[in-house]
Order: sequence, then structure tokens, then C-alpha cells
Amino acid sequence: MRRAVCPGSYDPATNGHLDVIERAANLFDEVVVAVLINKSKQGMFTIAERMQLLEEATAKLPNVRVDSWHGLLTEYCREQGIQSIVKGLRSVSDFDYELQMAQMNREISGVETLLMSNNPAYSFLSSSLVKEVATYGGDVTNMVPPVVHERLLARIAELG
Ligand code: PNS
Repeated sequence: MRRAVCPGSYDPATNGHLDVIERAANLFDEVVVAVLINKSKQGMFTIAERMQLLEEATAKLPNVRVDSWHGLLTEYCREQGIQSIVKGLRSVSDFDYELQMAQMNREISGVETLLMSNNPAYSFLSSSLVKEVATYGGDVTNMVPPVVHERLLARIAELG
């Protein structure tokens, strides 16, 4: 069985994330969407909330499941018997960091990373920008799954 992990902060998931997850699900028998900690980012949603949103947004994909992990990604792969990491590449500015992580992960574990070119329709999308635009009242309806849109507006209203 070919299994892959799509790791990320997913704070929250965007349509760009969903596009990569869906395409990975077409290539692998099983895809685990794993919510991990990125120490350089501050969260708007808890890990449990991010997982819930991902579960709802990927409900129609039968070979996709959602999980979370607090340690090294490669340790998760070892524990779960996952051979491949799949990540989306939006632009050349993503490439340096993604390549560095891919090489580090391979060095410490042998796990391979596949960098998938993003759908250009989503190349400008990031969770951080979506949150910023939505916080200032901008329309992000077409940038995130409907369930994320609803929760995002609710969270912004809560935060005042
Ligand atoms: O969505 P992001 O923030 O680009 O995802 C980055 C993430 C969470 C996949 C990365 O920070 C990560 O793998 N964190 C887990 C800890 C780890 O393994 N760090 C070493 C990376 S080489």
C-alpha cells in the first residue's frame, strides 16, 4: 500500500492546500493530512480546530484521513510506516525552504519528499494572507473551503 503524508500548519486550510491533498489522493492509496507545529508561526485556530476543519473539507475523499503530531515529521513517518511526504510549491520563493526541509528530512530518515507544483490559480494563496485580508474585512470566499470561511469569519468576530 502506497501511503503519503501531506504535512502543514493548516491554520486554516486553503483551497490551495485542498488542491494538493486531492491530487495526492489520486496518486497514493492513502493520504494522511497531518497538522504539525511550525515553530515560526502563531496560530489562530487550535490544532483540534484545524483538524476538524480539514476533516470536514476532505470528507468527500475516501482515502484521506486527518491526524496531528507534535514532534518531528520524519518520526511521524517512521511510526506510521509512511514512505513519502507530499508538499505543494507555489512559487520559487517557496522552493528554497521546501528543498532545505526535503533534504534535511531525507538526511535524517531516508523519507522522500515530492514537491508538487501548485495549481497556478492558487499560487498567491497562503493561510497567513487569507487571515490578514479577512481580518480587515476583505472577501476571501473563493480562497478557502466554505466550512473554513464560516469558521474564519466567526473567529475574527470573536477576537473583535
Ligand atoms: O504549512 P507549513 O507551516 O509550511 O508546514 C511546515 C511544517 C509544519 C510541515 C514543518 O514546520 C514541520 O515539518 N514541522 C514539524 C517539525 C519538524 O519536523 N521540523 C523539521 C523540518 S526539516
